[in-house]
Amino acid sequence: MRNDVNRQWLLASRPEGVISDENFRWQETPIPEPRHGQVLVRNLWLSFDPTQRGWMTRDTYVPMIPLGEVMRAASVGQVVESRRPGYAPGELVQGTFGWQDYAATDGGGVIPMRKLPPRMPPNLALSLFGITGLTAYFGVLDIGQVKEGETFVVSGAAGATGSIAGQIAKLKGCRVVGIAGGKLKCDWLLREAGFDGVIDYRADDIGARLSALCPKGIDVFYDNVGGAALNEALARINLRARIVLCGAISRYGAKTPPAGPANYFNLVPKRGRMEGFIVLDYAARFPEATAALARWLGEGRLNQKEDVVEGLENAPNTLARLFSGENFGKQLLKIADPPLAPPT
Ligand SMILES: NC(=O)c1ccc[n+]([C@@H]2O[C@H](COP(=O)([O-])OP(=O)(O)OC[C@H]3O[C@@H](n4cnc5c(N)ncnc54)[C@H](OP(=O)(O)O)[C@@H]3O)[C@@H](O)[C@H]2O)c1
Repeated sequence: MRNDVNRQWLLASRPEGVISDENFRWQETPIPEPRHGQVLVRNLWLSFDPTQRGWMTRDTYVPMIPLGEVMRAASVGQVVESRRPGYAPGELVQGTFGWQDYAATDGGGVIPMRKLPPRMPPNLALSLFGITGLTAYFGVLDIGQVKEGETFVVSGAAGATGSIAGQIAKLKGCRVVGIAGGKLKCDWLLREAGFDGVIDYRADDIGARLSALCPKGIDVFYDNVGGAALNEALARINLRARIVLCGAISRYGAKTPPAGPANYFNLVPKRGRMEGFIVLDYAARFPEATAALARWLGEGRLNQKEDVVEGLENAPNTLARLFSGENFGKQLLKIADPPLAPPT
């Protein structure tokens, strides 16, 4: 059953500071007709990612979203009509279908369209097996090059990427310390995610706690946040340390870039390496990462948390949750259940 309109959120203005409803405009249009080579996808679940703020404001690793266009987002949907060989109605697909009910697409986009593996729940396809879980995998193993017995520290530790990154490092035999905001998140990291130590950056002195929890220094710092966490970690790195620059959410809303970390020079005497990466560069190896994550999940060695909001109308507020820290785990939004029975 189709709704008879396509509800959409368009990008109305570029945020300065905090993201607000004013940055978006609600529109209802006819459902598009798929052209030859396209499928019509009914969107079911949206992924919320801090990088969307960058897409709204400037050209980065992808061009920014033009004003007046549908807000770009990774999502899972169901093919309801196909004029594209290889795709059939009922199949679940993920791609960059945006904040709308329906997308007529040839499968292109920042995250190219691919089918979900059989029986994969749509939420899991966007959380553990989505961009954040894949990012944690490549960030820890390829960029971080973690080794057994090393001390691994992660900021944004209770988030979608950070919580999986810390658990992968733990699986590889590291001592794992997480930096997160608030007692609830810190307790979860210790009790449910198996971290060895936690720092509540809203209440604790990050530097003093890092010294106490990492008496042998830091071998790998996985940074999702930037700012004070990065600077304090840099002051405590070991010889040949790796700093994994995954993200820097503390600066995403800054009007002018903050000064660089004063302790960066410690990389010189410690012969450290600080390296950024974009997970999309690893697309050819996503199957490898997915298989490993599925194995660890099946063995009960990964604890993954999702935070689900319902209703397309709530998309702007849901995006803002990432920047206030209201989200606890992978931020998702459920738009609808699949309208068709999946093919058997
Ligand atoms: N390089 C890549 O390819 C790639 C791919 C995916 C994600 N990332 C990056 O990974 C990071 C995490 O993304 P995610 O999707 O997993 O989101 P997430 O961690 O699930 O959610 C964002 C979290 O950031 C924390 N935060 C927000 N503002 C902060 C501030 N000013 N200072 C400290 N912490 C703050 C909040 O946690 P607290 O409650 O703990 O403050 C919030 O829950 C982001 O930096 C993102 O850009 C990079």
